[in-house]
Amino acid sequence: MYRTHTCGELRLQHKGQEVTLAGWVQRVRNLGGMTFIDLRDRYGVTQLAVNEDSPAAVKETAGALGREFVVQVAGTVIERSNKNAKIPTGDVEIAVGSLNVLNASGTPPFTIEDESDGGEELRARYRYLDLRRQPLQNALKLRHRMAQEVRAYLDSQRFLEIETPFLIKSTPEGARDFVVPSRMNPGEFYALPQSPQTFKQLLMVAGYDRYFQIVRCFRDEDLRADRQPEFTQIDCEMAFVEREDILQTFEGLAKRLFRSVLGVELAQAFPRMSYADAMRQYGCDKPDIRFDMRLHDITGRVKGKNFAVFDTAEYIGGICVPGAAGYTRKQLDELSEWVKRPQIGAKGLVYIRLAEDGIKSSIDKFYTPGELQQIAATLNAKQDDLILILSGEKKKTQEALGSLRMEMANRLGLRKSNEFAPLWVYDFPLLEWDAETQRFYAMHHPFTAPKPEDLPKFYSADRADIAQVNANAYDFVLNGTEIGGGSIRIHDAKVQQRMFEVLGFSKEEAEYKFGFIINAFRYGAPPHGGIAFGFDRWCALFGGQETIRDYIAFPKNNAGRDVMLDAPAKIDSVQLKELQLSNS
Ligand code: AMO
Repeated sequence: MYRTHTCGELRLQHKGQEVTLAGWVQRVRNLGGMTFIDLRDRYGVTQLAVNEDSPAAVKETAGALGREFVVQVAGTVIERSNKNAKIPTGDVEIAVGSLNVLNASGTPPFTIEDESDGGEELRARYRYLDLRRQPLQNALKLRHRMAQEVRAYLDSQRFLEIETPFLIKSTPEGARDFVVPSRMNPGEFYALPQSPQTFKQLLMVAGYDRYFQIVRCFRDEDLRADRQPEFTQIDCEMAFVEREDILQTFEGLAKRLFRSVLGVELAQAFPRMSYADAMRQYGCDKPDIRFDMRLHDITGRVKGKNFAVFDTAEYIGGICVPGAAGYTRKQLDELSEWVKRPQIGAKGLVYIRLAEDGIKSSIDKFYTPGELQQIAATLNAKQDDLILILSGEKKKTQEALGSLRMEMANRLGLRKSNEFAPLWVYDFPLLEWDAETQRFYAMHHPFTAPKPEDLPKFYSADRADIAQVNANAYDFVLNGTEIGGGSIRIHDAKVQQRMFEVLGFSKEEAEYKFGFIINAFRYGAPPHGGIAFGFDRWCALFGGQETIRDYIAFPKNNAGRDVMLDAPAKIDSVQLKELQLSNS
């Protein structure tokens, strides 16, 4: 037996016991005649003590140890004279009787401590060493717990876990596909699934009623903190359901995860908001509702005072930043530059400060103090608040204000990682018109059902009517992050065909790409709907982070590379030839 206990297990109650531990050397401290060794494994750290009276072989081995050596140690648990209250094993240490090096280690390129001295790139290259650090171990433990709870809950709700293939044909989730050449079918390619969307719908046609899978998805898209090219979904589908059944079922899942993983009891029903309200009040379809600072439309109130910027704008809106009237001229100038960044796209920023010495603004020339007061009243602003106003085209300006709202909340520390505000957003537009390609795109995906009351518009020949059709789609939002999205699906072959027509596919194209699912709908497809959650995102948020990388054992970097493997990589000419990708 390599060990009798783990390095996180021993307490005063074990005093006097003979134990054997195995683990990695975290640190060696030589204090004259004494040597202390911190021995670490996934469960914790235990101190080993070697002194003058220790066996000669132990003293010799201890003297030659380096960081990250793998050792096995046998000895007696003794009470420490110098206790360490910071660690659970801090009351005891092991008086070492024998010490056996199982494997030596090179000096690690960075410190394996909670706060490492290694840069991101270096740690990524030695991911297996980085993964020894406590914060990463905690992240993966949390992920494991989440997965177990998800399975237990969905099993209790009669869901079946069913695997679906990875080598498939393109699924339209809006990103580019990763493709895999087929050796046996020269010149042809599989696509890796962007999600198991079509398969889970086929499982409903097949009568499996409630399906789930914790499944890898692949999307070739630009990466951000909360996006990886391969990521994991909790993918679910149900037959014979309406939206309400789905929201109830998965609110149950969310509540269970909050309770069992975080110990947070959420008694109330989660708030719900239509997409239209989210855009109007928060300038964003995934609002962070932990704080207020809502958008106010002041278009009607501020026009007609000879301020051309406002007079020519389609929409003028503002947010009231609590307690920020003390913002200096310099800070406001800097904020003004911030909103002009291309990602935000505003032309300029107007402010009104409700300072102690009176109301001051960047539009004093056009508005009397009384008029400014009226604007302030519209925004429910109080003494010491700062009003920030943007103007321009409606949707763009609302979105810019939404970004500004988040920025101000970050600056004011209003986005606390231990506070949680779940939210359902529903009734998204079904389609988005793209001016560049002159065609509609499905806002969620092409299998999403239009709201029944909008069906006449869906069949209209007029583009403007079609643009107004709402989808029976919903998102699950947590703290301003989209954690999940789903919809009630089309289950009628004719409606599905109309959808492909609206998306600009010819009959032949639709048949070639999606004939299998349209055909399946002709053989008794039940009404159905579902949802998929971004598992990595959910884990990261529960862990108090916005970046998902630490919650994935072996993630890619921002350029989509695995720097440890150095992948993607070139393949040799033999392989290329075999795949008929090259003749040379
Ligand atoms: P959707 O495309 O909205 O829906 O994806 C569901 C959830 O997956 C997460 N997500 C990602 N997480 C990390 N990296 C990525 N690149 C990434 N892309 C998406 C998000 C998102 O909310 N088939 C539908 C679901 C359905 O309709 O049932 C789908 O995939 O948290």
